[in-house]
Amino acid sequence: MPGTCVVGLQWGDEAKGKLVDLLTSDFEIVVRYQGGANAGHTVVVGDQTYKLHHIPSGILSHNVKNLISPGVVLNPPTILDEIDALAKRNVKVDNLMISDRSHVVLPWHIAEDRLLNAAKVGGVAESSENIGTTLRGIGPCYRDKVGRTMAVRFGDMYRPEFKQQIERIVESKNQVFQSLNGDANVALDAAAIFEEYSGYAERLKPHVGDTTALLLDAIDEDKNILFEGAQGALLDIDHGTFPFVTSSNSSGAGVFSGAGVPARFVNRIIGVIKAYSTRVGGGPFPTEQDNDDGQHIRDRGNEYGTTTGRPRRCGWFDAVAVRYTARLSGVDMLSLMMLDVLAALPEIKVCVAYEIDGKRVEHFPSHSDDLRRAVPIYETLPGWQQEITEVERVEDLPENAIKYVNRISELVGRPVGVISVGPDRRQTMFLDKDLAQRFGN
Ligand code: GDP
Ligand code: IMO
Ligand code: MG
Repeated sequence: MPGTCVVGLQWGDEAKGKLVDLLTSDFEIVVRYQGGANAGHTVVVGDQTYKLHHIPSGILSHNVKNLISPGVVLNPPTILDEIDALAKRNVKVDNLMISDRSHVVLPWHIAEDRLLNAAKVGGVAESSENIGTTLRGIGPCYRDKVGRTMAVRFGDMYRPEFKQQIERIVESKNQVFQSLNGDANVALDAAAIFEEYSGYAERLKPHVGDTTALLLDAIDEDKNILFEGAQGALLDIDHGTFPFVTSSNSSGAGVFSGAGVPARFVNRIIGVIKAYSTRVGGGPFPTEQDNDDGQHIRDRGNEYGTTTGRPRRCGWFDAVAVRYTARLSGVDMLSLMMLDVLAALPEIKVCVAYEIDGKRVEHFPSHSDDLRRAVPIYETLPGWQQEITEVERVEDLPENAIKYVNRISELVGRPVGVISVGPDRRQTMFLDKDLAQRFGN
């Protein structure tokens, strides 16, 4: 199993970080391949909690190389903060390499994100709302990458032309900000930005290199490589709930281009799901429970954003959406997280289809306005009303919890290989034979 990818199948925060950390011991290299500091991946080891934004969740295993590949957009001061925070806690970071092809998030991207995020999007007036971005400059940075003329790649910061590059871009950006007239405070100072970013570049230099060459060599040498997705497939720029998405391919579709590996190399894809649904920011969410049930899930699951602290919107599991993203991402097995959060509920609902304009629909709609009109058709399953955070073996789970897991697997059409009942590494059960042999109980 040389290439394994962990990808979120909902709207992010499925606990990908926990799974990647757990699996890491079996791999020689862990790769973050898209997104940027909009991601917040949590790893809990005993009484220690690590919140990672750019750095791969394999960083806690010292003998593993952690790569940030070309598809990621990086904010230098944020990654330096992450590196410093880890070093302070005695986590070694000398095994971290950042691709010189990755793109740099600059102060204007964050200013643009603020300005643009104030705008409403959506097709019809009543469905207009904000995207509700993380304000980390992600969309504007990816836009400049695709536009090319205003982009800065990591490797550019070490070239003699860097100063002129910054001056040229700042001149145009200042004109744009002036014409937008949105934020009077935005007047960029090219000399100050050049000084500041040259300083960051110097400090990050030991970590910058050609991750693509390293990965292609590793593939030739048959090394085991783990790819860590950020966000979730429903936030994918091409395949998610557009325009309420992020600006990268966060479904399984993003791994090959983002990491720089051939598609056929990744031969196992693990789809991470919560036992319910959450979403941060705007956009349609058919199974949302803006009521006591939603609040119950938010409280029990501590559903507040890792990156922004925003309360996450909570609702029932949506099997229409996850069946779509599991098929789209070529998922082999599911890792079902947060099962413990549902423990107190007498009944649990699962959305098995939608009704849109009076018709039953089993395919995930391509337009957000259609999804917004979707009324979930629910199946109600009995809860188990018993804490399961200490359960160590699948056969010791309450019967109704097992029935719930099996029903989700059946509806999504993929086997469940992992069940998680708490944030800690040890609160994990492996059903998949191969994984159980390597990690488990
Ligand atoms: P990611 O972005 O997909 O890595 O997920 P986040 O780290 O943003 O959010 C997942 C949260 O759930 C973190 O606070 C984890 O520590 C926590 N967590 C992970 N697995 C479980 C679980 O099985 N049960 C509970 N209750 N919490 C979990
Ligand atoms: P992880 O990797 C949850 C959401 C934002 C917003 C939309 C666009 O921790 O699962 P952006 O800043 O990317 O332009 O925001 O995407 N979003 C996430 N939601 N988890 C994430 O990452 C997210 N990254 C972005 O809330 O709705
Ligand atoms: Mg997160």
